[in-house]
Amino acid sequence: SEGGSTHDVDFSFEGPFGKYDQMQLQRGLQVYTEVCSACHGMKFVPIRTLADEGGPQLPAEQVRAYAAQFAVNDEASNMHLFDYDEGAARPLTENDHFPANNSQNAPDLSLMAKARAGFHGPYGTGINQFVKGIGGPEHIVAILTGYTGEEKTEAGTTYYENTAFSTGWIAMAPPLYGEDVEYADGHSNEIHHEAEDVAAFLMWAAEPKMMARKKAGFVAVAFLVVLTSLLFLTNKKLWAPHK
Ligand code: HEM
Repeated sequence: SEGGSTHDVDFSFEGPFGKYDQMQLQRGLQVYTEVCSACHGMKFVPIRTLADEGGPQLPAEQVRAYAAQFAVNDEASNMHLFDYDEGAARPLTENDHFPANNSQNAPDLSLMAKARAGFHGPYGTGINQFVKGIGGPEHIVAILTGYTGEEKTEAGTTYYENTAFSTGWIAMAPPLYGEDVEYADGHSNEIHHEAEDVAAFLMWAAEPKMMARKKAGFVAVAFLVVLTSLLFLTNKKLWAPHK
């Protein structure tokens, strides 16, 4: 349905002064780890970035503990698959990336929040994206909450009807029903919260430096405003004798 059912979400990171909500990113990490990572990987994201300012900002020892729950067999695979082969495997460290996971044909989620558009139109103009943003995180929320409950099996694969998926039928079984995780911070775990939290987390994963970029842009604009006024005044002063 080309995102026809995608709703705008008022994410904290939107707008020129938007910031990631640290607690929301931590909750999203929890959803990702406890639910999504069963099928999906995030192999382009270094685990150490969980400690970065502007991100989930976990304390260093929590980041190390997070990494250490996964194992990699460097000899058998450089893809960080889960297969724990006694003897050859070692625990991940914060300098490794999140595990890859291709076991269910699920796409890697490292860049998913920037790979899909949630908003289109009107009439193919894309003006909605200009007003509301590309809508990657909104697309993820819409997918996670867009199941109708209908399913069908074709050539041995089960497809689930989903109003936000491009073809209408997605091969991902509904991953969230609400109350799927018990949040460490006690936040409500209704399905729309879980969906928004993991979408915010995936936006951060795809664009961890968004806040630094906005800040640099703001400084650049402020600099240009000052420079413009100085040039204007200089110009007036230089030409004053000739008027
Ligand atoms: C596809 C997110 C859990 C299996 C996707 C897509 C997203 C996504 C954004 C791409 C949709 C698109 O192309 O527009 C998530 C999130 C999860 C989660 C945030 C956790 C809350 C799971 C789980 C499984 C799974 C647990 C396996 C049981 C798949 C598969 C696809 C997929 C097979 C490809 C579907 C297709 O192209 O038809 N997922 N997923 N996902 N996911 Fe998940």
